[in-house]
Amino acid sequence: MIATPHESAPLTPVTVLGLGPMGRALASAFLNARQPVTVWNRTPGKAGDLPDRGAVVVDSVQAAVRAGEVIIVCLIDYDAVRATLEDSRADWTNRRLINLTSGEPAQARQMSQWASARGIDYLDGAILTPTPTIGTPAAAVLLSGSHDVYESVRETMNAVGSTVTHLGDDPGQASAYEVALLDIFATSVNGIVHAFALASAEGIEPERFAALATGIGGLLPEMITRFAQQIRADHYPGDRSTIASAASGITHVINTATSHGIDAAMLTAAKAVIDRAVADGYGSEGLARLTTVLHKEATGTGTA
Ligand SMILES: NC(=O)c1ccc[n+]([C@@H]2O[C@H](COP(=O)([O-])OP(=O)(O)OC[C@H]3O[C@@H](n4cnc5c(N)ncnc54)[C@H](OP(=O)(O)O)[C@@H]3O)[C@@H](O)[C@H]2O)c1
Repeated sequence: MIATPHESAPLTPVTVLGLGPMGRALASAFLNARQPVTVWNRTPGKAGDLPDRGAVVVDSVQAAVRAGEVIIVCLIDYDAVRATLEDSRADWTNRRLINLTSGEPAQARQMSQWASARGIDYLDGAILTPTPTIGTPAAAVLLSGSHDVYESVRETMNAVGSTVTHLGDDPGQASAYEVALLDIFATSVNGIVHAFALASAEGIEPERFAALATGIGGLLPEMITRFAQQIRADHYPGDRSTIASAASGITHVINTATSHGIDAAMLTAAKAVIDRAVADGYGSEGLARLTTVLHKEATGTGTA
């Protein structure tokens, strides 16, 4: 660590491997926090204004790891991370590696094992918010892996945002949250673009549709909270709406989309789950019951 004449708290040199939009945002946040920052990217010339603001650009991973104590890697995927780090011949003594690349829980656990086999202190992470939030209170970052390693980087990581949460020792937890949240995002975005296509086919102007469609988003927070309570209690009252009713509603959407030649595959897949739940005798229960139907089908051990 480097002690500065102006501040009592020592600054930790940080290295950022990867200068895509997110890597640049992370490096920028560390610079704003007055951390010494070194950056590396596979393709040169991606550092933007970071050098002018004090970042040191190096042309090898080996030099980048040598310069930092906390090494952040943020690349397109885990294969890129693995290839980059395998090739580097870097000396990781007294270095901590934080992988903020998006991926899958199994990949995170494998990466943690890879690091452990080389004696590298490792945390896996997931960034839940877009680049403009990084370095602001709106940033949300999850970390998982060794508690001791987390404690050793906690202060340094405060530069990334106010909400950096450690989820525990399992290195796969951050990715697990990320993929489950991406599940909501991916299906929601598909639902939105599909609904615009359907509305357009019915001659509805996008702005007029949007005025009503935005109300759907407002319903979701309460529903998510209520579903969590029902899943925890394993009790799915059909007092507000039922699975049988949802089967009817989704059929109208599928038929209308199909009549316009619009792909309805995502909806028919959703309806197939609903149909299986009805066939299993859950038609009169609430929609959160579908969670246990999916879980039981996957594991054979659900509570359904
Ligand atoms: N952007 C966001 O708002 C956001 C939000 C949350 C999470 N994330 C996650 O953050 C990570 C980085 O995202 P990003 O937005 O910065 O852009 P990205 O397009 O996902 O990644 C670009 C980075 O990956 C590097 N890369 C690609 N293939 C590589 C390889 N085979 N070997 C070495 N480096 C390779 C690129 O280097 P080159 O320049 O050499 O191609 C560049 O540094 C991703 O996992 C993404 O899911 C991003």
